Amino acid sequence: MTTKRQSVHGQWSSRWAFVLAATGSAVGLGNIWKFPYITGENGGGAFVLVYLICVCAIGIPIMMAEIMLGRRGRQNPIMTMEILAKEEGASEHWRLLGLMGVLAGFFILSYYSVIAGWALAYIVQSVSGAFTGSDAKTVSKIFGDLIASPERLLFWHTLFMVMTMLVVARGVRSGLEKAVTLLMPGLFLILVLLVGYAMAEGSFAHGIEFLFAADFSKLTWGSVLTAMGHAFFTLSLGMGAIMIYGSYLPQDVSIAKTSFLVAGADTAVALLAGMAIFPIVFVNNLEPGAGPGLVFQTLPIAFGQMPGGVIVATLFFVMLVFAAWSSAISLIEPAVTWLVERKGMTRHMACVVAGIATWLLGIMTVLSFNKWAFTFTFAGEEKTGGAFDILDILTANIMLPLGGLLIAVFAGWIMSKKSTTDELGMEQTYSGYLIWRFLVRYITPVAVSIIMLKAVGIL
Ligand code: PFF
Repeated sequence: MTTKRQSVHGQWSSRWAFVLAATGSAVGLGNIWKFPYITGENGGGAFVLVYLICVCAIGIPIMMAEIMLGRRGRQNPIMTMEILAKEEGASEHWRLLGLMGVLAGFFILSYYSVIAGWALAYIVQSVSGAFTGSDAKTVSKIFGDLIASPERLLFWHTLFMVMTMLVVARGVRSGLEKAVTLLMPGLFLILVLLVGYAMAEGSFAHGIEFLFAADFSKLTWGSVLTAMGHAFFTLSLGMGAIMIYGSYLPQDVSIAKTSFLVAGADTAVALLAGMAIFPIVFVNNLEPGAGPGLVFQTLPIAFGQMPGGVIVATLFFVMLVFAAWSSAISLIEPAVTWLVERKGMTRHMACVVAGIATWLLGIMTVLSFNKWAFTFTFAGEEKTGGAFDILDILTANIMLPLGGLLIAVFAGWIMSKKSTTDELGMEQTYSGYLIWRFLVRYITPVAVSIIMLKAVGIL
C-alpha cells in the first residue's frame, strides 16, 4: 500500500511544520521582488486580477494535486511520477514530467540566487546607513552601481549559494524549520509597517488604483501568460517543489485546508508588497515599469526617510534574504533527492554537485545585467535583457505552466477516483472534491493551453 512507502528523507514533525515549510517555499522573492515589478511592467490592475483568478482557479487545485502526488509517491518527483504511473497502469514516461521539474528548479535557482544576492548586499548597505536621507536619485545610483559590477554580483551570488547548499546538506528539518517559524511572521509585520508608511507618506490612492483598477486595454496575451506563470512561480507549483514537500507530509493532514492556507498567506504577502511599493513609486515620480530593480529602488527611499530607518531597512533585507533562502532550498531539493535516491550519491555529494552546477549557470545571470545584454522577441514583444530574462521566461512562462498542466492531467485523468479520494481524504460525492476534480480535469488543462498558445501566436 502506498501509504507505507518509505522515503529516505523522513517526515515533517507536524502539520504546522509542513505549512510553514510550504509557505516558506511559496513566500519569497516572487512576492516581494517579482510581483511588484511585473505588475508595473504589465500595466497594473487587470494583470493583478488575472493573477488572482489564476491563483484561485488553477493554483490552489494544482497545489492540492501536487501535494497529493508527493505524499502518495514518497520519493523525488521523477521516481514519484514513475511509481504512480505504474500504479495507475500508465506509461512510465510520466517520469519526464518529474525530470522537467528538476531541471526547472535548477534553472530558477541559478538566477534566484543572484537576485537574493542583491538582498544580501542591501543588508550591508542598510547597516552602513547608505539610504539615510537619500532621495530617489541616490538610491537608484546605489542600485545601478551594484548591478554594473560582475565581481560584486558574483560574490553575493556565491555567498547565497553556499548558504543554501549548507542547509540542504543538513536536511531541512534542523535549521530552516525553526528559522522560518520566527522570520515569516516578522516579515509580515514589517510589510504591514511599510504599508502604514506608504499610506501616510506616499500616493496611497494612486498606488491602490494602479494595483486594483482593472484596465483591460493594457492586457495582452503575453501579459496574461506572465500573470498565469507568476501564479505558478509564486506558489512554487509545476516543478515538484511542493511535491517533494508533500512527500514528507504525515498521512493524517488535510491537503485541501493546507493548500488554502499556504496560498492565502502567499497572496497576502504579495498584495501587501504592492501596497507598500506603488504609493512610494508614484509620490517620487518613479516609473512603475522600471523592471527588476523596482523594489531595490523604491523601498530604500522610504527607509531613508522614516525614523529608525536603518533598523527597519536592515530587518527588511534580512527577512527578504530569509524568505529567499527558504524558497531556494525547495528549488534544489528535488534535484538533490533525485541524485541521492536514483544516482546513489550521499546527500553531501549531491549538494556539492547540484550546488556547483547551479552556481556556474548563475554566472550567466550575473553577466546579463552588465556585460552581456541583448535584444530578443517573445510572445510578440521585443525585450532587452540577457540570460536572466531567457531563463525567467523559459521557466516561469513555459516550464512551470506546462508542468502544472501535466500534473493536472495526471491527477484528473490518469489517477482513478479511488486513488485521489483516498489520498485527499474526501468522499467521492463531496462537493469540494467534485469541484477540485472538475478544475483539474477541465479548467486547468484548457486554460493553460489556450493562454500558452495565444501568447505565442499559435491560436
Ligand atoms: N515561490 C518562490 C517565490 O515566490 O519566490 C519561488 C519558487 C520556489 C518557485 C520554489 C518555484 C519553486 F519550486
